[in-house]
Amino acid sequence: MTSGTTQYGLALVGCGAFGTFVLDAVGDIPGLRVTACADADRQRARTLASRFGAAVHADVTEVAARADVDVVILATPPAAHAETAVTALRAGKHVFCEKPMALTAEDAARVEAESRRSRGVFVVDHVLRYNPVLRLLMRLGEEHLLDPLRRFAFENDAADEDLDADHWFWNPDRSGGIHIEHGVHFFDAANALMGAGPLQVQAMEVRREGGPVDMVVATATHPQGAVSTHMHSFTHAHRAERQLMRLDYGFTEARVTGWIPTFATITAWTDDAGAARWEALPGQAAELLAVPGLRPHGQERITVTVARDAGSGRPARGRGVTRVVPHRVDCVVDLGGEDRKQYVYAESVRAAMTDLLHCAEHGGTPQADATAGLTAVAVAEAATRSARTGRTLTLTGGAP
Ligand SMILES: NC(=O)c1ccc[n+]([C@@H]2O[C@H](COP(=O)([O-])OP(=O)(O)OC[C@H]3O[C@@H](n4cnc5c(N)ncnc54)[C@H](O)[C@@H]3O)[C@@H](O)[C@H]2O)c1
Repeated sequence: MTSGTTQYGLALVGCGAFGTFVLDAVGDIPGLRVTACADADRQRARTLASRFGAAVHADVTEVAARADVDVVILATPPAAHAETAVTALRAGKHVFCEKPMALTAEDAARVEAESRRSRGVFVVDHVLRYNPVLRLLMRLGEEHLLDPLRRFAFENDAADEDLDADHWFWNPDRSGGIHIEHGVHFFDAANALMGAGPLQVQAMEVRREGGPVDMVVATATHPQGAVSTHMHSFTHAHRAERQLMRLDYGFTEARVTGWIPTFATITAWTDDAGAARWEALPGQAAELLAVPGLRPHGQERITVTVARDAGSGRPARGRGVTRVVPHRVDCVVDLGGEDRKQYVYAESVRAAMTDLLHCAEHGGTPQADATAGLTAVAVAEAATRSARTGRTLTLTGGAP
């Protein structure tokens, strides 16, 4: 916790796999104490509560009535998020809501409106907003070492090994479908990296023979001539899982690997001044990769190699922009690769909760606030509708 004095009572609603992961990730934040665990399956709540000496409940209404609960983590399947978030916010609780914030933009807007009325802080667990690799890229953008992002392409060969045929994930009434259940992370990441949400979206879905939709693809246009594509395929064994986020900044390209990014290569064409700035990055790695609440493990590295005069000294032109950029930069950002995925994942959740507590204590707006959650759900819902109707849909929001 940030103040070191305030104690926050913490309740978890939805004591399944991810709720347990979140509780373990945030459990040692100073100032937090687990006071209640709730689950529709009381036995699950009881098992988890016994680890913390916490009270056992069945639902959010009971939890929201407790005076010793200040922060409520919502980790039920997605269909329950909007209603439970509104209940907790109305009771004045801070809410840490699993993604997606809601199944529809209408419901997400209800939560967002309630979060503005409530004295509680609302954070949606879009863990990518708290990832050091993506934070670094956003910082380099703000400092104009990267040009505006013109292309975001995410390829997700995800595992379905633990998703049995009757899992709620496959049921759109409970999960919202893949664009909503999982896609929101990446619609939001694209919004954050581009600084603006989409203008239009077009999507398709692919059904496995005799089974559910297990592959989806969406393309979105963003302001200033940018485009994002999002491909999710829940068809792999764990060992064959792989993800690539390819980011095109014109003279620079970044390739980020892992759905929880733990490694990236960046290739840039630059001039003398740019080369000097890139070469300074390794010495600033700790600062550039810092995310409040995320504890580095100490092996994080940024390495930079500059091949001077690797290209011609003549002006180079792309999309109407002309530059003299003879030097080639190869930058590697390494948080430890796949071996560190679970560590970075848990620490990103810890950072998201730290953000919530910081705002509860000092005011301010969390990185993954209700507006970010609403915008992502609106895009995901439009993608889902586009896939079912074959139409390109125009979005009105636009703000990241
Ligand atoms: N942010 C991330 O990276 C990330 C990763 C995985 C899962 N998730 C999200 O976490 C949420 C939970 O996923 P999971 O895999 O743990 O599911 P799960 O099925 O393992 O657990 C859900 C639990 O919620 C309980 N439940 C259902 N409805 C309830 C209600 N109305 N009130 C109280 N309890 C209720 C169920 O009994 C179950 O124990 C989902 O929204 C999922 O999208 C987020």
